[in-house]
Amino acid sequence: MKIDILTLFPHMFDGFLTESIIKRAIEKKLVEINLIDFRKYSTDPHHKVDDYQYGGGSGMVLMIEPIYNCLKEIKTDESKVILMTPQGVTYNQKMAYDLSKEKHLIIICGHYEGFDERIRGLVDMEVSIGDYVLTGGEIPSMIITDSVTRLIDNVIREDSHVFDSFKDNLLDFPVYTKPVDFMGMKVPEVLLSGHHENINKWKQAEALKRTKIRRPDLLERVDKDV
Ligand code: ADE
Repeated sequence: MKIDILTLFPHMFDGFLTESIIKRAIEKKLVEINLIDFRKYSTDPHHKVDDYQYGGGSGMVLMIEPIYNCLKEIKTDESKVILMTPQGVTYNQKMAYDLSKEKHLIIICGHYEGFDERIRGLVDMEVSIGDYVLTGGEIPSMIITDSVTRLIDNVIREDSHVFDSFKDNLLDFPVYTKPVDFMGMKVPEVLLSGHHENINKWKQAEALKRTKIRRPDLLERVDKDV
C-alpha cells in the first residue's frame, strides 16, 4: 500500500512517521508513506498556493492549480483520492477497513479558510473526522493513515484487530491484567477459568452490554455499515 499525503506542512508528520507501529510498518515495507509539499507544483513565481476569495470574505483560499498539477503527476488508475474536509462524510472503522484494501491512497490536506470549490471535482471522496474544525487536514490525514495502516496485513497481529471496537458495530469488551485483585476490585472469575467457550460468551455479552449503555446508536446500525 502506498499513501501519498499532499501537505504544505510536512514537518507536522515528523513524530507520526518515526515512532511505534507506523515506523515499523514503513521499515518492513508494508506501507510506503510519502509527504508531498504541493507548493512545488505552483506555477506562480513566488510559489503561491492560496489567494483571496472572489466576492470578498475573510481568509485565504487554496488554489486548484498546484493540486491539479500534483495529481497529474502522481495519480494512476489504482489511486483513490481523498480530500480532508469538515464537510466530508464522517470517518468510521468500516471506511478504514475498505481503504486498507486499496493499493494507493492520495490524501489532500487543506489549510487556510478553505479550498477552491473546483478542487472537489478532482477527488474520489471527501472525508471528515468529526464535527469540529481543525486548522488543517494534516491531523485528519494522520488519523486516516494510522487507522488504515494498522489494518494492513502483518502490520499488527490479526487477532489484535479482529476484536476491535466498532467491528460489527460493537464496542470492545473489557480487558484485565495483573493483579487479580487490586484493592478489592477483582478480575471477573470467568476470565481465570480457562474455559474458552465460556470466556468467549462472556466477551460477546460484555461487548453488547457496553455498547447498549455507551453507544446504543451503533446497534441501530448493525448490518447497515458492516
Ligand atoms: N480539516 C479541518 N477540520 C477537519 C475535519 N474535522 N475533518 C477533516 N478535515 C478537516
